[in-house]
This record gives sequence, structure tokens and C-alpha cells, in this order.
Amino acid sequence: MQRPYLFLRGLAIELRATIGRELADRRDLRILDLGCGDKPYYPWFAPHATEYLGVDGYPGPYVDRVAPADRLDFLADESVDAILCTQVLEHVPDPGALLREAKRVLKPDGVLFLTTHGVFVFHGHPTDLWRWTHQGLEAVVRQAGFARVTVSPTEGIVSAVFGLVDHYTYTLAMRVRWLGFLRYTLHPLLCWIAPPLDRRAAWMFADYPLAINYLVVARPS
Ligand SMILES: C[S@@+](CC[C@H](N)C(=O)[O-])C[C@H]1O[C@@H](n2cnc3c(N)ncnc32)[C@H](O)[C@@H]1O
Repeated sequence: MQRPYLFLRGLAIELRATIGRELADRRDLRILDLGCGDKPYYPWFAPHATEYLGVDGYPGPYVDRVAPADRLDFLADESVDAILCTQVLEHVPDPGALLREAKRVLKPDGVLFLTTHGVFVFHGHPTDLWRWTHQGLEAVVRQAGFARVTVSPTEGIVSAVFGLVDHYTYTLAMRVRWLGFLRYTLHPLLCWIAPPLDRRAAWMFADYPLAINYLVVARPS
């Protein structure tokens, strides 16, 4: 099913570019994938890693260690070079506790790559508790002790609006038989036209950002 395309396309493009830029020619890193699920972004870290540890609150085929994301007792202070935490923060009961734990285990020159939702429908994994603005997300990361923090939307307002329209029409099309054609017409059309429209609309909405996802890059010092 192509459906996640609109919701993850911008995130994947930005995340890949950011990993390449931030880790550049660094090798032999110890990398923690926090809330790893199926480790979808492992291939982008592989050239930089000697160890890629997947931690998740629930067991799965790609999970190396089952643990709550805010209690990483098995990792020493300042023992990890980079942390990836994608689409997890909105699911944990205490986002500040997760971020403080990430800060604790990161080396002083380490880096956190984190993504989470701005505008998105409820989706329990198993719970879905939080949404952020870019300012709120920066605040919660800084409050956890990170010194250098950037937060970027991974797509624009058109994708955010189309994402909600897509959710509505796609769900309708799943339930109302004669509307089934929308899944194969409107859905791909929205996915296709959102990115160029985002680029054209960017200047108008510079002061009113709205994004499906935000990408945080944060350093402890
Ligand atoms: C939306 S999935 C994202 C998975 C993966 N990071 C990705 O980007 O595809 C959210 C993940 O967070 C995990 N998760 C939810 N709450 C958690 C918690 N309190 N501690 C650790 N993992 C948790 C879920 O089991 C799930 O694998």
C-alpha cells in the first residue's frame, strides 16, 4: 500500500540528507535506534556504525533489546555516539523523561536525530499522546539539557492539509465501496502535487509553519 508516502516522504528526504551531513565521514560509531520498530533507516547509518542497537518497548524481529525508551539502565552515561528516535516521542507518557535519558547516554560530542508529528491523525502504538509546534518541540528538547537544537519541518502546509484530506477520503473509500476508486486516484494525486505546492507556498506561510513531521537535530554541548 502506498499510503504512508505523503506522510513519510519529506521526513525520509530530510533525514537522509541530515544524517549524511552530520555524520559525514565519521565511522565506527555506536548508534542507538530508540523505539526502533522495524529499523527502517538502518541502511543510512550502516556505513557509519560498528554497533546499531535497536531498543523498543515491545518485542519484534528487529528489536535487539526490549525496554521503555525512558529507562535505558543497561546503557552507561555518555556511551553512545548517535541516537535515532523516529515517530516515537508522541507515543511515550513522559517525553521529557525520554529526552533526558537520551541526553544521559549520549557522548558530549554525540548527536540526536529525532522526528515526531506536528499535524497528524490519532494512531496508537499502542498510545498516541502528543503533538508539537516547532517552538514547543525545541523547548522540550532544550529543557532536557540539550545545548544546540535545530527543529525543521520536513514538509509544508500543503502536505499537512492534504494529509488530513487524504486520511478522510482514504478512510471513506475503504468503507464505502463505490468510493473505492479514490484510493487509486485522489490519493496518488495528493501525494504527487503536495511537494511542488509546498515549495510554491513556502514564502506565504513562513510565519505560520504547519508540518506533518518535524526533524530535530540536537547536541548535548
Ligand atoms: C510509529 S512506531 C515508529 C517505529 C520506527 N522508529 C519507525 O520510524 O518506523 C513507534 C514505535 O515506538 C515504540 N514505542 C512506543 N512506546 C514506547 C515506549 N514507551 N518505549 C519504547 N518504545 C516505545 C513502538 O513499539 C513502535 O515500535
